[in-house]
Amino acid sequence: MTQSTSHNSHSAPATGPTSRLVGILAEFSTPDQLVDACDQARQAGIRRMDAYSPFPVHGIDPAIGITRTRLPFLVLAVGLSGLFVAMGLQYAVNATDSIGPFPGYPFLISGKPLFSLPANIPVTFEVIVLSSAFATFLGSLALNGLPKFANPLHRIARFRKATNNGFFLMIEAEDPNYNPRTIRNQLEQWGAQSLEEVHLDLTDHKLPSFVRMVFVLLLAVCTLPPAILYRSLGESNTVPRLHFNPDMDWQYKSQAQQVAPDIAVGDEEERPMFRDLRAMRGEVPGTVIRGQLRDDRAFYTGISGAEAGLALNAGGASYVSIPNAQDEAPAEPDWLTQFPSNEKFAVNAQTMQRGKQRFDIYCAVCHGTTGEGNGMVNQRALTLNALGRASWVNAKSLHDYTVVDQPVGRIYDTITNGRGSMGPYRSQITPEDRWAIVLYVKALQDSLADAVAEDEEGKWVPVRTTPPAPVTEAEPAAADATTTEAETTEASGGQN
Ligand code: HEC
Repeated sequence: MTQSTSHNSHSAPATGPTSRLVGILAEFSTPDQLVDACDQARQAGIRRMDAYSPFPVHGIDPAIGITRTRLPFLVLAVGLSGLFVAMGLQYAVNATDSIGPFPGYPFLISGKPLFSLPANIPVTFEVIVLSSAFATFLGSLALNGLPKFANPLHRIARFRKATNNGFFLMIEAEDPNYNPRTIRNQLEQWGAQSLEEVHLDLTDHKLPSFVRMVFVLLLAVCTLPPAILYRSLGESNTVPRLHFNPDMDWQYKSQAQQVAPDIAVGDEEERPMFRDLRAMRGEVPGTVIRGQLRDDRAFYTGISGAEAGLALNAGGASYVSIPNAQDEAPAEPDWLTQFPSNEKFAVNAQTMQRGKQRFDIYCAVCHGTTGEGNGMVNQRALTLNALGRASWVNAKSLHDYTVVDQPVGRIYDTITNGRGSMGPYRSQITPEDRWAIVLYVKALQDSLADAVAEDEEGKWVPVRTTPPAPVTEAEPAAADATTTEAETTEASGGQN
């Protein structure tokens, strides 16, 4: 081969070799001859060769020295690394505090171990399958030297017979045992019908036309997403762009606080559906919604007399008492001291049962099932208090004398409107259930009226908290049951 370089910059493009010898192509007339020739060539020490036939020929693989594929080992190796990657990643992320500079995320779920084999199998399995599939697909392409866009053999007219009735053996010039002087003779000896040298044209750099077309098409398609994004930048949409399930989202309707639609009935012209243009209809003046009549004011407020009306008119909001100008102490309303009785509420065993059930649902979490103020929420909150992570007001013991002595109406009001830091329960609990709870609270108080418990100093004290000892001498035998109880807790009396 000549290696000539032009020093004249004005001359034609550098004149290197215009073609390179790739190998020699021999045609045989029968498959048996082809196999035979392959055998001989192999025995002559030639390794870089390939046979072409229109159909699979038995015995040709060993004849040209094709060994078993290495693909399975490649797939095994990649699959195993998939196993280690998946296991390792899960371990690093879930069971360690940090992975190098990155923080780990040890996340405790239901007290399960941070790393356990069974839990990590699915991800590992998936990663192994995925990596093996890729290794198989890409590996078989790579081992076969694909994709290959051109082959000099395709420029040889005779070679077209390879898909029809030609049996070809191609011996590559790169083979160390390729001897350009003797190869022709050898092939003829082995039965070649015709021989042809195969050259690679080094001056032809043209891409196949379809490649250029596909490239241009792909480029055009790639501009679409940014174009769509750019277009949507200035757009606003009231509906999701993709609305797979229409439900009843586009029905003809008007919503509560919107303008009523214009409608036409029969041949009429379109006109507003309602004269006031509002889609929502207000309450009809002078009427009461079915089941909403709250004429029994004492029942709904826990307050007897005229004040009850005031509380009701406040829309069920907290009863606001006006402080007395003289002593600053807010005037207490006239609380009901007796349980109400109507078609919704009666004092009986059934109501008591209902009250207990509601109490256990709504109140026990804070006040405890016995009402001593030791519910689970309260206990937890006190723990947080001690840690400085909450500021919680102790849920009061319902056996505290300040509560025991309260009239039923006042306890009802506490449930309805809340008190101090306790929230209101009027929206969760119906009035009749509130009264049932009051009934149960009263029963709870009675049940512990003369119970005793050990205090911190190991002394047995009454569960029911007594008022502080009076500073002045107590009046003897007051008619008021409260005072009696306060002074003589061991007495079994003190019922409401
Ligand atoms: C989220 C916790 C919590 C729940 C639930 C709860 N309470 Fe309370 N309750 C409190 C706290 C806290 C206080 C003390 C409020 C204060 O002193 O500021 C209290 C105080 C009370 C008082 C005394 C009010 C007074 O006059 O001092 C009564 C009575 C009472 N609750 C009854 C109930 C009843 C009945 C229920 C169930 C409907 C209930 N509570 C549900 C936390 C709760």
